[in-house]
Order: sequence, then structure tokens, then C-alpha cells
Amino acid sequence: MRIERFPNKEAFSRAAARFVLGKARRAVGRSGRFAVALSGGKTPRPVYEQLALPPFRDAMPWERVHLFWSDERWVPRQHPESNFGMAFETFISQVPIPAQNVHPVPVDVESPQEAATQYEDTLQAFCHGEDPKRRTPPALDLILLGVGADGHTASLFPGSPLLEERSRWAAAAFPPQGISPAISRVTLTLPVINAARCVLFLASVAGKQEILRRVLDGPGGPGHSLPASMVRPQGQLVWFLHDEY
Ligand code: 6PG
Repeated sequence: MRIERFPNKEAFSRAAARFVLGKARRAVGRSGRFAVALSGGKTPRPVYEQLALPPFRDAMPWERVHLFWSDERWVPRQHPESNFGMAFETFISQVPIPAQNVHPVPVDVESPQEAATQYEDTLQAFCHGEDPKRRTPPALDLILLGVGADGHTASLFPGSPLLEERSRWAAAAFPPQGISPAISRVTLTLPVINAARCVLFLASVAGKQEILRRVLDGPGGPGHSLPASMVRPQGQLVWFLHDEY
């Protein structure tokens, strides 16, 4: 596990954008494409804004980049709480990424459960072609995650039965009392998150010192059963932190 701490959002977001660009270039060199799952919430916003600015806008191989989501709120895409909507506004609408490379969670189907099933089909088709067999979980090149003050990540909340999920790749979830927004979600599950070649956590230390201390104590520490602590990818695990609110 690699932890980098930055003094402010500007340094944090530029370093994170540079990290994403580096992963994109290596993935395209290896496989001809780069599959990244975006996280939601407030922390990644300045990182996404950087992706729409030079040098990242012009250096990123957008035609080879495929965007997925680590989780999504069950709201229309133009809703202020939509993770897709935030990414679309901050960079997707401003960079030359082909529309067919953007794979949002479907929110125009009858239920979050149906959306999760369709999202799993999207991941299956992207990673394994039309092969109808459910193969091993897709190994995305990079998954971005945040962490809540309760230790949740994506929409995997403490005590959720989803933390034991071993076969489904995406699932419907609802946040416990006190977690906002109190909206149904669709989330990637740990089998997919832990199959990633790299997981990059993006977090502001402000207001999260205690949970970060527990989560970053490592597997044997007091926070080992927290959802964020259960993220132990096959590949690299990196934390970028900054000290600003
Ligand atoms: C979401 C996110 C969620 C988020 C954390 C941290 O959809 O809400 O996926 O897991 O990353 O709650 O959120 P902040 O970055 O806003 O602190």
C-alpha cells in the first residue's frame, strides 16, 4: 500500500490526474485500451476538472479510454446527486471521448436491482465479449474510490451483507441511517474491486482523521472489518490524501 499526502486540493488533484494519465498510457500500451471506474462524492471533483484541462486533456488517449462507475445514485443523470452527472459536467462533456466508451450505470430501468444486473452484463460484454458464461470478475485497469467517515467505500456500507458477496459484480444498495444522500445506489462489489490492476483511494483528511487512521492501520488493525479496509486488490493499492476541507 502506497500513501501520498498533499498539502492542498490543487497539488492533490494534479497528482491524481497525472496518476490516471500514467495508468492510461501503460494500459493502452499493454492492451490497447484503458478501463477505469470513477468514484462519486465531492473529493474526486477537482481531479476530474483537471482531466478537462491541459496537459491532461490533450495527453490522454481518450479514444482508448473506457469509463465505468464504482457506484451510482439511483437518480436521473441530470440530478445534482448523480455521479455520472458530476463527471459529465466536470470533464466528460469537455474532452473528445467517444460516447460509446462511456458506460454509465443505467438509471432508466425499473429498479436499482435491474440496473445492477444490466451493469454486470455491460462489464461482462466489455471484458469477456459475448461469451455467455460468467467468467472471473473483470480486471479493470484502475478503480477510483472514496471513503466515508463511517468507513464505507463505493456504496458498500459497514455491516452490509454485500460485503460477503462473492458472485455478483454489481448490486443494489441503500445507505444506512445518517449517510447522505439517502438514495438507493448501485455499487460494484468487492470481487470486482479486488480484481482491479490498481485501486486509487482519493480522500480529504479533514473530518476523516479517525476513520483513516483505522483503515490505514492495515489488515490486522482495528479497522480491518471496515468496507474500505476490505479493498485489497490483486494489483496496486494507492491512497492520495489532502488536508483541505
Ligand atoms: C458516493 C461515493 C462514496 C464517496 C464517499 C466519500 O457515491 O457517495 O462513491 O463512496 O466516495 O462517501 O464521499 P466524499 O468524497 O464526498 O467525502
